[in-house]
Amino acid sequence: MRTGRGPGVAAALLALAALGALPERARALSLADCTAPGADCTLREVADLVGLRLGAAAASGYIASDPLYGPTLAAEFNSLTPENHLKWPQIHPAPDTWNFGPADALVDFATAAGMRIRGHTLLWANPDRLPAYVAGATSAAEARAYMADHITTLVGRYAGRIDTWDVVNEPLENLGDVLFDNVFLDQIGPGYIGEAFQLAHAADPTARLFLNEVLVEIPGSSRFDAFYDLVKGLVDAGVPIDGVGFQTHLLSPFIQPTGAQLEDAMRRFADLGLGVEITEMDVGMTQTAGDRLGLQAQIYADLIGACVRVAACEGITFWGFTDRYTWLDAAFGPGLDPLPFDVDYGRKPAWFATRDALLARLPEPAPGALLAPLAAALVLGARRSRRRGRAPALPAGRAVVEI
Ligand code: G3I
Repeated sequence: MRTGRGPGVAAALLALAALGALPERARALSLADCTAPGADCTLREVADLVGLRLGAAAASGYIASDPLYGPTLAAEFNSLTPENHLKWPQIHPAPDTWNFGPADALVDFATAAGMRIRGHTLLWANPDRLPAYVAGATSAAEARAYMADHITTLVGRYAGRIDTWDVVNEPLENLGDVLFDNVFLDQIGPGYIGEAFQLAHAADPTARLFLNEVLVEIPGSSRFDAFYDLVKGLVDAGVPIDGVGFQTHLLSPFIQPTGAQLEDAMRRFADLGLGVEITEMDVGMTQTAGDRLGLQAQIYADLIGACVRVAACEGITFWGFTDRYTWLDAAFGPGLDPLPFDVDYGRKPAWFATRDALLARLPEPAPGALLAPLAAALVLGARRSRRRGRAPALPAGRAVVEI
């Protein structure tokens, strides 16, 4: 269901690069264009150049209350995720009560700013995150009716504006390797996850539909295996799933998967034909001494580099963007400073690490735009390669990306 790029495109891009025949859009990718003295690209400009979604979780209240919040968000990100406004208890707290206001405000803000929107989330599997009336369903029919009303109404309302949904969030028990025990599992069985995707697809056939999970960045763990088996089962059953979201909440040094591990994890799902995204990244720093922000920047570079290297990775979303507002303050206390902007909206080392990591991604060519030069370049590149007995080389400084 996802539109992937085949190996032919990779070869063509390599050939074009080798011949110095890259189109304008690709030339604008050179690191120097955004790092030269005087150049001042925002993360959004860089993300647009390299064709990646770069988002932040956001709340409409801060746009209204904090004059720096909205302008920074719109300048630095090409996507946003409502952090809480679309969640079932917030937007649909009783069977006939909908509270669309805060989500509408955020959707209107993003639309006006030309930003994409990730819808988070239609069904958070954790029973603590479901309203009491839903949890009280006593039959499969009742549970299905709640699910159908909720998903059909929400996806239908925002069709054409919310382009990607986390259809089901955190299907696995916290830290475990089994499905969360919730009313849907109890009444419908494990098939409820596929049914949720079917409902979302019917309500907006153009939306990209993701399964979003936390702490599945490390292949080899029983939790990763359980998540993989779940996703593969959905794909094998023909469920309309487009992608997998890796939340990527890190807490240095305790929860700190490496970029190599995340890359491996992403490739496992890409091999199923799925897209992948980093959907909720933040890096809480428990260290209180030393160059903790420099270390944080290294972690950002390492993890974002994984997405940049995997062609199926469509984007990165941070869970917030300024240390002024982070869920970690409420969860663990202040001072973990997990985001790329500081409390005064200053760019942290993690901001620069993000920018530089993004710049290593080659752009996706516009469909059809490169066909003629592509064909010529491929022929020429192949001839040159044959003559030299090796593959075309890339210009210095340009990363090789598997596409
Ligand atoms: O808005 C009310 C406020 O009116 C009230 O006075 C206050 C009293 O507690 O609560 C406020 O609501 C809180 C809301 O955040 C907004 O701040 C909720 O209690 C609180 O539970 C809620 O926490 C959110 C949490 O999900 C649960 O929904 C966090 O902001 C949000 O960052 C967090 O996000 C999750 C993702 O959805 C899924 N992955 C993990 C991630 C982090 O936990």
